[in-house]
Amino acid sequence: MFQKLRRSLTKRRQKLSLPPVAREVMRDGLTYLPLERMASLNAELERVVAQDVPGDIAEFGMALGGSAIVLAKSRGKRRFLGFDVFGRIPPPTDRDASDAHNRFKVIAEGKSTGIRDGEYYGYVDDLYGRVVSSFEKFGLSVDNQSIILRKGLFQETFLPSESDRFCLVHIDCDWYDPVLFCLTSVSRCLSPGGVVIVDDYNDYEGCRNAVDKVLAENASLRLERTLPHAVIRKQPV
Ligand SMILES: C[S@@+](CC[C@H](N)C(=O)[O-])C[C@H]1O[C@@H](n2cnc3c(N)ncnc32)[C@H](O)[C@@H]1O
Repeated sequence: MFQKLRRSLTKRRQKLSLPPVAREVMRDGLTYLPLERMASLNAELERVVAQDVPGDIAEFGMALGGSAIVLAKSRGKRRFLGFDVFGRIPPPTDRDASDAHNRFKVIAEGKSTGIRDGEYYGYVDDLYGRVVSSFEKFGLSVDNQSIILRKGLFQETFLPSESDRFCLVHIDCDWYDPVLFCLTSVSRCLSPGGVVIVDDYNDYEGCRNAVDKVLAENASLRLERTLPHAVIRKQPV
């Protein structure tokens, strides 16, 4: 029985195509993304690169930097921009449901455990420094030109100019307000054919409501699928 389960898990892993960097960040406990989401994120990345969709790559919500490292590693000539408060996650609001408030209560009481029972990222003293070191370990220099990390609230650090364009954006920030802000803002600078992946669509009610609201107001955005996360594409013109 146990061996059968192990064989089917091994088969599932072999079917999901992952670059070595993704396997390494997962092995090192640098990401909360389960295998299916990492494989899907990577597939979308390969797709925009193969189709040569213009624009940079961005992530909102980096925590320990795992998924960001995967995105930055495959950026080619594009820039990678990563946004995070690099500290304790800001609280949910009354637009979020009890799932978010219950989770935040555990975090605020100092009772959250991290990946594989390690230290929770929100309790790390210098999370920004830790993430920069992890990038370096993967051969990625945070030079703030080709790889740019912005520390602070998204609402204060993401101020796109007229000329900013994105081909792929990963939104991984849990609650209603930040998801609404990020998706609304990036929808204006997403290239046609570009993609936004929202990690928590199936995890938090507030996140799902924010995504559904933006989709209802933007005819140019199409929800292609909701598993293992929400994949939203800007329609080619
Ligand atoms: C689930 S974690 C990201 C996980 C990461 N992508 C990975 O690979 O494991 C969510 C991150 O979003 C950040 N965050 C949430 N709301 C934010 C906001 N309004 N401004 C800046 N950072 C925020 C949190 O502090 C946290 O680091």
